[in-house]
Amino acid sequence: MLSEILDFLGSLHPLIVHLPIGIILLTIAIDVFMRNKNNSIQRVITMGWFFSFFSGLLAVLFGWFLGDNGYYLESQITIHRWSGVALVGVFFIIWILRYLNFRFSRSTNRSINMTAIFLLLVTGHYGGEMTHGQNYLFENLPYVKKKISVMSISEVKRSETDSIFVYEDLVYPVFEEKCMACHNQNQTYGGLNMSSFESIVKGGKSGAGIQKGSPFESLVYKRVSFPQNHPKFMPPTGVPLSYDQIAILEWWIDNGAERQMPVTLARKEPKIQRLMELQYGLDLREKSYLETLKLRTLSQNDLKALEDERYIWRFINPEESFLDVKFTAKKIQTPDLLNIQKVKENVTWLNLTDCMLNDDHLNYLSAFPNLTRLKIQRNQSVTDSGIEALKELKNLNELNLYGTRISDAAFISLGKIKSLKKLFVWNTLVTPGGIQSFIEQHPEVEVIGGL
Ligand code: HEC
Repeated sequence: MLSEILDFLGSLHPLIVHLPIGIILLTIAIDVFMRNKNNSIQRVITMGWFFSFFSGLLAVLFGWFLGDNGYYLESQITIHRWSGVALVGVFFIIWILRYLNFRFSRSTNRSINMTAIFLLLVTGHYGGEMTHGQNYLFENLPYVKKKISVMSISEVKRSETDSIFVYEDLVYPVFEEKCMACHNQNQTYGGLNMSSFESIVKGGKSGAGIQKGSPFESLVYKRVSFPQNHPKFMPPTGVPLSYDQIAILEWWIDNGAERQMPVTLARKEPKIQRLMELQYGLDLREKSYLETLKLRTLSQNDLKALEDERYIWRFINPEESFLDVKFTAKKIQTPDLLNIQKVKENVTWLNLTDCMLNDDHLNYLSAFPNLTRLKIQRNQSVTDSGIEALKELKNLNELNLYGTRISDAAFISLGKIKSLKKLFVWNTLVTPGGIQSFIEQHPEVEVIGGL
């Protein structure tokens, strides 16, 4: 009961403090600006010091109760507390001396006023810092750019998203900044020590800090997501956690709160992925096969293989290592294929449209490991048995077979190309039923059958 009353009085502190501030400023203003002070004015000034003292005393007393609840950092509170006490002491001494009709010289009087104002500024400033955060005053000056987000992830790490962990790189730095001052090995308010992963999970005297999989049973999450005026809201002073910090914390706990959970898991959750992109500059989009591939650049000698005028070719990346090669003559022969095998690592797109390609020729294509797009449409001699060789192509995304003589049997080989995304089979011998059953087994492949 008593502690509840004290808590209540403590909560009145921020209200009461404004009384002595107003009264002392008015009193000093009267003292400074009223030149000829008769007795009544002197009495008003003495009364002003008295009321400053009286309201100031209440403010100090209530402030003491408030500071005792553990919600403020000892290091922050000390200066505020003792300059407040000194200020009220000054109010008291001046009032008593004036009450006893002690006459101050002009210069002493001025020093007294200045001292009171100085102590007022110090006390007020440190009080404001505790309630509004350290940079409150300067941050809000016009023309000062606010710091938007604290990004603790280095440039280098940011480009290698596989090595970034949700807890270590996103969650823990927030705890360190906003909670650790009150929850560490030495200072464990509520029995909670937040200096290690294990002790955070374990929690304090009221239960688990983190209940893996259940944010709403995790005290650490509950406390930061209360409404800010809730008595149990954390952190009790200073700047609360931002929306993205709370959302990432919730998502992490929801997904098992593992210490080594990679941020790339956010790919499954577009909202979180977007937050990470905006707040931490993390680009989590999946890289395509080609983006992850580093190929050697070709020498002059290598390029000789392509000098054959029956081929046209170009580089498809600025680093000049991926080749797009097209055969342009009417009839292809085995030596043509052997020739471009000299740059087989680098051929990523290959176009052998309408050049009398046959099943035997297709065997040579399995030698191109980085082939991602292959066009062999309009070759009437390509049949199911030739397609078998293509299953060796581990990175093939797109395959154009329209106008060949393949049938439903080709789908067996085609189903073995795990990387396949797009397949053109119109104007062949495949049946709508064959396409249908292939799509059912391989929903990831887009099949262009049509007419
Ligand atoms: C200025 C000091 C201070 C800061 C900063 C602070 N806390 Fe607290 N915390 C306390 C005090 C005092 C208590 C005990 C009273 C209570 O339960 O409200 C407490 C209690 C808790 C409890 C309940 C422990 C239990 O089992 O009873 C949790 C959970 C908690 N804090 C989480 C946090 C988190 C998370 C942060 C950072 C976002 C944080 N605190 C920052 C002072 C602080």
